[in-house]
Amino acid sequence: MLGRSDLEGLKVLDIGSGSGLFSVAAARLGAHVRSFDYDGASVACTVELKRRYGDQISSWQVSEASVLDENLMQDLGKFDIVHSWSVLHYTGDMWRAIENAIDAVAESGDLLYSDLQRSGISQLDLVRDKTPVRSHDYARHAQGSAVAQLEKL
Ligand SMILES: C[S@@+](CC[C@H](N)C(=O)[O-])C[C@H]1O[C@@H](n2cnc3c(N)ncnc32)[C@H](O)[C@@H]1O
Repeated sequence: MLGRSDLEGLKVLDIGSGSGLFSVAAARLGAHVRSFDYDGASVACTVELKRRYGDQISSWQVSEASVLDENLMQDLGKFDIVHSWSVLHYTGDMWRAIENAIDAVAESGDLLYSDLQRSGISQLDLVRDKTPVRSHDYARHAQGSAVAQLEKL
């Protein structure tokens, strides 16, 4: 996808790292990885992956944070690769999240991003159907009105 055989020395930002699988792969390919996720359980999972498979990689940092936090995003700076796979539509403010992710891409850098297929399906359906019980807390990822409708179902 990137046309590179390794990520040696590249700065990589993994927004919404979830389990941390992409982060661990990037770190082991030589990248300086910064991972964050809004959800504490996901952060704990990424930290555990780092402990098991990347603890010797001192340039890999993991934290709990939101892509909607403008100050944090400014402080992080620019990255050669910004990865956000199936995350930005969960934030409750997708367009701002996309803008923040784009702003973090360095000149000549790449944004690797995926969204859910929305054609013919409401955001409410997506949140309900694509949010597995216990692995994602939809109430934290959907806007108030969507949550209110979900509660009535
Ligand atoms: C479907 S998972 C994808 C995880 C990972 N990117 C992957 O591909 O396996 C969505 C992730 O987005 C995270 N997320 C939701 N809102 C977020 C926000 N505002 N900032 C950062 N992460 C967020 C969730 O906690 C969850 O871990």
